[in-house]
Amino acid sequence: MKFLFIGDIVGRSGRKAVRCHLENNKYDFVVANVENSAAGFGITERVYNDLKSMGINAMTAGNHTWDRKETAELIESWDEFIRPANISSKAAGKGFNIFEVNGKKICVINLLGRVFMNMSNCPFESFDTIYESIDKDCFIIVDFHGEATSEKIAFGNYASNKANVVTGTHTHVQTNDLRLIGNTLYLTDAGMCGAIDSILGMEKESIIEKFVTNMPHRFKAETKGSVLFNGFSFTIDDDNIIREYKLINETFESIES
Ligand SMILES: [Fe+2]
Repeated sequence: MKFLFIGDIVGRSGRKAVRCHLENNKYDFVVANVENSAAGFGITERVYNDLKSMGINAMTAGNHTWDRKETAELIESWDEFIRPANISSKAAGKGFNIFEVNGKKICVINLLGRVFMNMSNCPFESFDTIYESIDKDCFIIVDFHGEATSEKIAFGNYASNKANVVTGTHTHVQTNDLRLIGNTLYLTDAGMCGAIDSILGMEKESIIEKFVTNMPHRFKAETKGSVLFNGFSFTIDDDNIIREYKLINETFESIES
């Protein structure tokens, strides 16, 4: 069985990169971080349906989960959408979901890091609570949405041999450390799908202005030029053992959108 995990999809350029990759590759199950997929901020109904139609089976989020007002209104009807588990238990939506594919149970969990974000409960404890509550034959994929490499590597080691796959997201910069920690496939950051000539998928000028002046600026997703596709794929056998894995870092030429 072949899986794909897609790094943070940023706006229209990111969606275009995903479409280009999925047109040429086949997977049994696809997970993507989608919290920047609607023009760089959150997700809308239209974008949710667009990503679903491309073949994305599970969509994870992070600190931008609630950027769009309609997310809070529609989240309960979005079966594929998983917001961070370690936020208020009163929040709408779900922090993990179990999907059945080819007779396999696949549990996708979204967690939010606390280093430099500090807007959530303990992700380590939340993982333990979920892990104790689910069937032990589930294949578990964790998207740990965090800023700090240290926190993500610590979590990868903490969850090794419990979670089957742990990947970081959020920095939009793919790391080169895809490896097994025990039986767990681990990557510090899956990277980004979005415009290459950008800063983390956003238009460069306003980001630079913000750093130079330290004044507030409105950021916009870059929609011009070539696009980048980042993620990783892996295969598993009938016993949930990971057999093959590889980083994916592709570019698609000059797409005006
Ligand atoms: Fe993020």
